[in-house]
Amino acid sequence: MPMANFCFLLLLLLPLLSSKPAFSESSLKPGFHFDLTHVDATWNFSKFEILRRGIKRDKTWIQNFNKMIISNLKVRMPVVEQRGSYLMNLSLGTPPISFSAIFDTGSDLVWTQCKPCLQCFKQPTPVYDPAQSSSFANATRSAALCKELTNSSSSNGCEYSFSYADESFTTGYLAFETLTLGGANQKVSTPDIAFGCGIKNHVKGLTQGAGIVGFNRGPLSLLSQLHIKKFSYCLSLNGTGSLVFGSSTSIDNTTNRAIKTTPLIQNPYNPSYYYLSLQGITVGQKYLPVPSSSFRLNTDGSGGMIIDSGTSMTYITEDVFDVLKPVFASQTNLQVIWSSIGLDLCFQLPSHNNSKLDVPDLIFHFEDLDLKLPVENYMVVNEELGIVCLAMGAAGGLSIFGSMQHQNMLVLHDLEKKVVSFIPTQCSQLDY
Ligand SMILES: *[C@@H]1O[C@H](CO)[C@@H](O)[C@H](O)[C@H]1NC(C)=O
Ligand SMILES: *[C@@H]1O[C@H](CO)[C@@H](O)[C@H](O)[C@H]1NC(C)=O
Ligand SMILES: *[C@@H]1O[C@H](CO)[C@@H](O)[C@H](O)[C@H]1NC(C)=O
Ligand SMILES: *[C@@H]1O[C@H](CO)[C@@H](O)[C@H](O)[C@H]1NC(C)=O
Ligand SMILES: *[C@@H]1O[C@H](CO)[C@@H](O)[C@H](O)[C@H]1NC(C)=O
Ligand SMILES: *[C@@H]1O[C@H](CO)[C@@H](O)[C@H](O)[C@H]1NC(C)=O
Ligand SMILES: *[C@@H]1O[C@H](CO)[C@@H](O)[C@H](O)[C@H]1NC(C)=O
Repeated sequence: MPMANFCFLLLLLLPLLSSKPAFSESSLKPGFHFDLTHVDATWNFSKFEILRRGIKRDKTWIQNFNKMIISNLKVRMPVVEQRGSYLMNLSLGTPPISFSAIFDTGSDLVWTQCKPCLQCFKQPTPVYDPAQSSSFANATRSAALCKELTNSSSSNGCEYSFSYADESFTTGYLAFETLTLGGANQKVSTPDIAFGCGIKNHVKGLTQGAGIVGFNRGPLSLLSQLHIKKFSYCLSLNGTGSLVFGSSTSIDNTTNRAIKTTPLIQNPYNPSYYYLSLQGITVGQKYLPVPSSSFRLNTDGSGGMIIDSGTSMTYITEDVFDVLKPVFASQTNLQVIWSSIGLDLCFQLPSHNNSKLDVPDLIFHFEDLDLKLPVENYMVVNEELGIVCLAMGAAGGLSIFGSMQHQNMLVLHDLEKKVVSFIPTQCSQLDY
């Protein structure tokens, strides 16, 4: 074999021969975590305003999700303006280029804007440039993950185009890079993480981030690529939160206290989403008189309930919500008032200054786990308008357990055991 060819072969084989440190959950120090920041937090919006903006964003994607399920399409795309509205920091390349990106449990692809940009939105940090990184490698069309992203046969490389329902999109090519993740206590770099190098991108309203990091169960997601089997997040609507990989002191301590779990189920039509099995809802003294089929995941892939940090609040089907509203209103002395702010059940804020709102308890009965929510997880106050509203809404078909209802809870996803737990936690005092 001529030397040149041999060298060429060796170069090709080199990546296979060199033993690369694989990312492993067990090599993480306990409490490996990142901070999360709400996209709207830096604008100093009130909790109420953050929710109001979120509801607007939810509408589009819920409609589109239902449309896709009805037409029997596998839903594997993030579908909205600023889905998963919390940002996390990460870096790509050698030397590493840091940026923030949306943390999204509702999608899989990890992508960032790439130079040379044909059309990029303004981002606060320098745009990642493959030419400046020694660890960049372009994906070929035959790469396994390429097939997960696109089936178009029109080019040599792995060009993709991801369209979002609200006219947001990213277009570019799949590539591999060294990804560095970490926070205060540990930084971990992992080579050959597949990501979308987006050269034409538009994400409505995104000014603080440079892309999206997918955390669902799809093969392209960061979790799947890093083989992370356990992760949890803690969100607080004042704009802060954390994301924990693997174990942490808080989790371990509570796990020892036999924490309750509920099954994480899978929709064959939509296998990447995190479905929960909700069986009923209690409002105050009353278990809602609705058929248990109201929450069931149907064999055609419709219905059911997903848990999604990227949806701002909880939505249940209209027939259930119509039963819930009068049951809720009848168990409070607060005066029901109509309001145009996008929430269906609002009350006049009592003029006297008492700290505790007189509203019924709200309990979600998941399979094997009854979750009683703290009042601040379902009531939202607007002092200026003098109203207090129930932060829940009606949706057609799919129900969603959204981020307002997760706040100040460590939401643990155990993908191996296929269960979810909710551990009441002050996120700001989380003991890693
Ligand atoms: C990301 O990094 C920037 C710059 O270092 C910092 O200002 C910001 O707070 C970080 N965001 C998160 C979510 O950690
Ligand atoms: C945020 O809003 C509060 C209340 O409106 C105000 O007191 C505070 O100064 C604002 N903070 C910033 C950083 O603008
Ligand atoms: C591409 O085709 C394969 C095999 O038919 C299929 O498994 C995969 O889901 C398709 N990918 C996309 C993005 O449609
Ligand atoms: C990677 O491959 C794509 C598709 O062939 C190509 O358009 C792009 O320029 C390549 N990027 C680099 C940095 O080589
Ligand atoms: C968010 O709320 C927690 C208490 O719930 C507080 O400790 C933390 O400082 C707040 N963060 C911001 C940015 O206001
Ligand atoms: C966890 O348990 C250890 C040992 O029992 C204890 O020192 C620590 O305070 C506990 N942490 C939490 C968050 O409960
Ligand atoms: C309500 O109570 C708080 C704390 O007790 C006080 O700071 C505030 O001024 C009171 N507001 C009214 C309208 O009385």
